[in-house]
Amino acid sequence: MFEIRPEEAADWWEVEALYDLCFAPGREALSSYRLRDHIPPVRGLSQIVREDGIVAGAIRFWPVHVGTADALLLGPIAVHPTHQGEGLGGYLIRAGLEAGREKGWNRVMLVGDAPYYQRFGFTRLEGVEMPPPTNPDRILGLDLVPGAWQGITGPVTRWNRVG
Ligand SMILES: CC(C)(COP(=O)(O)OP(=O)(O)OC[C@H]1O[C@@H](n2cnc3c(N)ncnc32)[C@H](O)[C@@H]1OP(=O)(O)O)[C@@H](O)C(=O)NCCC(=O)NCCS
Repeated sequence: MFEIRPEEAADWWEVEALYDLCFAPGREALSSYRLRDHIPPVRGLSQIVREDGIVAGAIRFWPVHVGTADALLLGPIAVHPTHQGEGLGGYLIRAGLEAGREKGWNRVMLVGDAPYYQRFGFTRLEGVEMPPPTNPDRILGLDLVPGAWQGITGPVTRWNRVG
């Protein structure tokens, strides 16, 4: 039985351990991490999943600016290898997108594998710049309200948003 609830401060290191397990070493050298350093994840949207108390999955969202526009940065998301392919990742993404929309966010972006994220409606963002060496084909976005990415271009920058 999975227990899914918002991540709290006390969960931080268990989620980090899951990410260390699921991602290649050196994940924190990726440029997307520079958008997250010393900025808390968006409260209420970042979720942790446990099965019998043991962490099975986690998703985090961060606030960023794209040019002058507000956006959610999805990720990291990871599901423990013993639970991959059971639909948990898809559930966390869909639930996170819905919760983001309900909380008034208009658009979400991520840096990731298009073959996975296109099933949720993510498409390549033209003119949205992550610091090099990000592969532009991995910069993906989704409208939470119709047309939200229209005309939004520029560098992705840190947003030290409270709450
Ligand atoms: C990516 C991840 C979060 C997906 O979670 P999950 O619970 O296994 O996903 P789901 O069960 O909802 O979906 C499984 C499907 O996604 C596909 N998939 C998983 N990772 C994929 C990828 N990188 N590219 C393309 N498809 C992928 C699986 O092949 C499977 O396809 P199917 O539905 O056709 O069988 C999980 O595999 C994971 O933690 N991977 C390691 C960390 C990672 O890569 N995170 C994403 C960063 S971009």
